Amino acid sequence: MDITFRLNGETVALTDVAPTRTLLDWLREERGLTGTKEGCNEGDCGACTVMVTDDTGARSLNACILFLPQLNGCAVRTIEGISAPDGTLHPVQEAMIGHHGSQCGFCTPGFVVSMAVSHLNGASDHDTQLAGNLCRCTGYAPIVRAAEAAEDQPVPAHMRDDAVRATSVPTDAQHIQPDGSDALAAWYSDNPEATLIAGATDVGLWVTKDFRDLGPVAFLNRCTDLRGVTIGDADITIGAMTSLSLLEAALEPFHPSFSAMIRRYGSVQVRNAATIGGNIANGSPIGDGPPALIALGAVLNLRRCDTRRSLPLESFFLEYGRQDRAPGEFVESISIPRQSDRLKCYKLSKRFDQDISAVCGCISVTVTEGRVTAARIAYGGMAGVPARALNAEAALTGAHWTQASVEAAMQALAKDFTPLSDMRASAGYRLETAQNMLRRYWLEDTGATLVTVQEVGP
Ligand SMILES: Cc1cc2nc3c(=O)[nH]c(=O)nc-3n(C[C@H](O)[C@H](O)[C@H](O)COP(=O)(O)OP(=O)(O)OC[C@H]3O[C@@H](n4cnc5c(N)ncnc54)[C@H](O)[C@@H]3O)c2cc1C
Ligand code: FES
Ligand code: FES
Repeated sequence: MDITFRLNGETVALTDVAPTRTLLDWLREERGLTGTKEGCNEGDCGACTVMVTDDTGARSLNACILFLPQLNGCAVRTIEGISAPDGTLHPVQEAMIGHHGSQCGFCTPGFVVSMAVSHLNGASDHDTQLAGNLCRCTGYAPIVRAAEAAEDQPVPAHMRDDAVRATSVPTDAQHIQPDGSDALAAWYSDNPEATLIAGATDVGLWVTKDFRDLGPVAFLNRCTDLRGVTIGDADITIGAMTSLSLLEAALEPFHPSFSAMIRRYGSVQVRNAATIGGNIANGSPIGDGPPALIALGAVLNLRRCDTRRSLPLESFFLEYGRQDRAPGEFVESISIPRQSDRLKCYKLSKRFDQDISAVCGCISVTVTEGRVTAARIAYGGMAGVPARALNAEAALTGAHWTQASVEAAMQALAKDFTPLSDMRASAGYRLETAQNMLRRYWLEDTGATLVTVQEVGP
C-alpha cells in the first residue's frame, strides 16, 4: 500500500508498505528512531507511546499495535520530535528532570510523549492520562508532580502539527483503505474473507502475538461517516468507528455510569484507538461495551452491500466465537433509545485501571410508585457471550422495589448463568459478585441499609 504521513514535522511517502507492519517496528528498524521502546508489544505498557494528529486533533497511541496504513494522512510525533528542532527541551522534559521523574529511563520516552499530548490538549487529570504508562522503578509521584509543574508552561509551536491531506486512497490487489462506508460496503461484499481493521487493539495482537498472516485487509479509519455520536429525539446513534474516548465524552450527560466505566476501559492510548464497532464485532464475552448497551436496549445496525438490517444487540451474540453476521456484512452503527437514565455499570477487575473485566454487570431498573415496571440486566464474563439475565429480570418485573425482591432476583440469577472458572475469577466468585452487583444497585438506588444479612448461595 502507498501512504503519506508526517513524521516529526517532515513528510514521509512510503510505497508498497506491508499492511500489517507496525509503526513501532518501522520506526526502530527502518528509521533508527529507537527512543520509542518495545515493552510488552501488546498495548499494555505505554513504552511505545507516540502522538498522532488527524482532523480530530492530537492523541496518544501505542505504536506497537498501530499499523502503518492507519497513519495515512496523519502527523506522527515520536519522542525524538518532542524537543524543539533547535534542541530546546519541551516543558514536560524539563519538569521530568527537575522532579527526578526517571531512573532506569526505559519507560521515560513513553511517559514524556503521553505528558506532552496532555500538555497540548490541556488535560490535567494526570492519573487518568498516565494510567497506560507503566513505570517499574521511579514510582508515579515524581512523574505526576512533573506533569503538574509543566501545566502552566506554553505549548511549544512545533507541537501543533497539521495532519497531511493524503492524496490517494491506498488500494492494491488485496488491501484497501476506503474513504467512506459506501466504498467499504461494495468492496467487502466482493471480498468477504477480508479482515476489517478498525482501531487494531484486537487485530494488532493477532499479528504481534499470534504472528498471523491476515490476508486481504480493509482499514476503516478513513470511513469518517462511520465515526461520531448523533443525539436524536428518539435515539442516540453511535457510528461503528467511534472511539471509546469519544464515546466516553459523548455519553457523559446521558448515561454517566456508562461513561465512568469507559474511563476504566484499557488506557487512554487504548481508548483513543479502540472503536465500539470493534468491541461488539469481536464477539468477546468479556468486552465492556456490550453489557451496558444491552442494558440500555441498544439495537445493532448491520450493512451488507446496499442491504441493511437491525437487531437487538443481545441477539447478535449467538454463542462463544459465533455472531449473527453474514459474510460481507459489517457493523454500521448502534442505536440506544432515549430514556431516563437508570443505568449503573459495575466493572470488576483485579486492577482498577487497564484491566479486562472478570465480571461486568450493567443494570437498569425502572420503578414507578414503588413497583418495578421494567428491568434490563446484562452481564459480561458470566457466559460465552454477553447476555441478559432473563430470570433475574422476570423476578423483579412487577415486584415491589424492596430488599426481598432484590434477594429473589439474586437467587434467580443463579438460573441465568453457569459461569466458568479461569485465571480472572472462579465460577463461584463470579456468580456471587454478579449477585452482589444487583444488591449494590438496590442499595445505591434506595439509599437503604441492609436490615438482615442473608446467605445467598450459588
Ligand atoms: C491493552 C488493552 C486493553 C484493553 N482493555 C479492554 C477493556 O478494558 N475492555 C474491553 O472491552 N476491551 C478491552 N480491550 C480490547 C479491545 O480494545 C476492544 O475489544 C476494542 O474495542 C476493539 O476495537 P478495535 O476498533 O480496536 O477493533 P479491531 O481490533 O480493529 O477489530 C476487532 C474485531 O472486530 C472486527 N471489526 C472491527 N470493526 C468492525 C465493523 N465495523 N464491522 C464488522 N467487524 C468489525 C475486526 O475485523 C476484528 O475481528 C483491550 C485491548 C488492549 C490491547
Ligand atoms: S510496547 Fe507496551 S504498549 Fe506498546
Ligand atoms: S524509570 Fe525505570 S521503568 Fe520507569
